[in-house]
Amino acid sequence: MSRPAIADIHLDHLRHNYQLARRVHGHRVLAALKANAYGHGAVPCAQALSELADGFGVAAIEEALELRAAGITAPILLLEGFFDASELPLIAQHNLWLTVHHRWQVDALLAAELSQPLHVWLKLDSGMHRVGLDPQEYRAAHAALLASGKVSDMVLMSHFARADELDAEATRQQLALFLQCTEGLSGARSLANSPGLMGWPAAHSDWGRAGIMLYGSTPFPQPHPIANDLKPVMRLSSKVIGVRELAANEPIGYGGATLTSRPSRIGVVALGYADGYPRIARNGTPVAIDGQHSQLLGRVSMDMLTVDLTDLPACGPGSEVELWGPTVRVEQVAASAQTISYEILCNVKRAHFRYHGGKA
Ligand SMILES: Cc1ncc(COP(=O)(O)O)c(C=O)c1O
Repeated sequence: MSRPAIADIHLDHLRHNYQLARRVHGHRVLAALKANAYGHGAVPCAQALSELADGFGVAAIEEALELRAAGITAPILLLEGFFDASELPLIAQHNLWLTVHHRWQVDALLAAELSQPLHVWLKLDSGMHRVGLDPQEYRAAHAALLASGKVSDMVLMSHFARADELDAEATRQQLALFLQCTEGLSGARSLANSPGLMGWPAAHSDWGRAGIMLYGSTPFPQPHPIANDLKPVMRLSSKVIGVRELAANEPIGYGGATLTSRPSRIGVVALGYADGYPRIARNGTPVAIDGQHSQLLGRVSMDMLTVDLTDLPACGPGSEVELWGPTVRVEQVAASAQTISYEILCNVKRAHFRYHGGKA
C-alpha cells in the first residue's frame, strides 16, 4: 500500500489541447514544457506530443538535455537562451534553438567559436520590460547576427504582458511596436502565448508558443469559448483517511482558525501543502468527494487537509477526493489561493504520478 495522493496525467487530453491550439493559431505552435511541463512531467509530455508538436520550449539547457536524453529529436527552444557563453558548444552539439534577449548575449554569440551556426529567436522588448532587446538596438542586433555567419535561422519574437486582459490597450501597443521594429526584417515571427493565441487573432503569426492552454487551463478570468474546449490534463486526488464528528463552534486544525458553523462531519484527506496544495487556500475552496461537490474547511497542513462531509453522509474513510481536475477547475483553487493556475500546477510534487493515454 502507498499514500493515496495521486496526480493522474491524461496525455490524450494534452494532445487534444495541442491540436486545438494549432487549429486556432493556424500556423506552427511551440509547446512550452518548461518547469517540468508546468508540473506534469516534461519527458512523458514531450513523448506524447512528439509526433504532433512543431517544437518545444524550455527554460534552460538542463531541461533541454533531459528531453534529448529521453530521445526527443524535435526542435527545442531555450526560452531564456544561455546564461553563460560556456553553454554555446553544448547548444550547438545538441542542435538546440536559443532565444537572444539581451545585448550581452548578442556580443557573446558574435564572439563565440561555434561548430555550426545556431537557430536564434531574437527577442524584442515591445513593452513587457522583462527580457528583450530595446527597440533602438533591435535592428542593429539583427543585422550583426545575420552578417556574422553564426546564425542559420532567425525568428523575430516578442512576449505579451497583458494578453489575458482581453480589452488591454497595452497588447495593441505591443503588437504595433513589434510590427514597426520588425518591418522589412527577414525571419519568421512569433508573438502569441496562450492568451494571445486564444484571444488575440492579430497576434497570430508563423509560430505560436502555447503553455497553460496545453494543460487544459484557461488564462482568462472570464468565460471564453475556446476555454470550453480545453480538457484538464492533470487530476489531483487523494482519499479520506478519517472522519471527525464535531458539535457547532468547534475549531478545526492548526490555529483553530476555523470554527464549525453547525454540527459537522469533517473528513481528513491525505494531501497537503507538501504535495503542492496551496496552504493559503480559503475555507470554501471547492473539492469533489466521490464525485459530489463539497468544500475545504480549516487550515491546510503539510500532509493533510480537511473537508466538509456534513451533507455527504455516504462519504467516509476511503472516499475519493478530487482537489482539481475535470470536476473542480484548477482555476477555482488558484483564485481561492490568490494566485494563477500556472503556479498551482507547477508546484505539484510528491504525489504518485500515473500517466494515461500515452502514444496514440
Ligand atoms: C517566452 C514565452 N513564450 C510562451 C510562454 C507560454 O505562455 P502561456 O503558458 O501563457 O501560454 C511562456 C511562458 O511563460 C514564455 O515565457
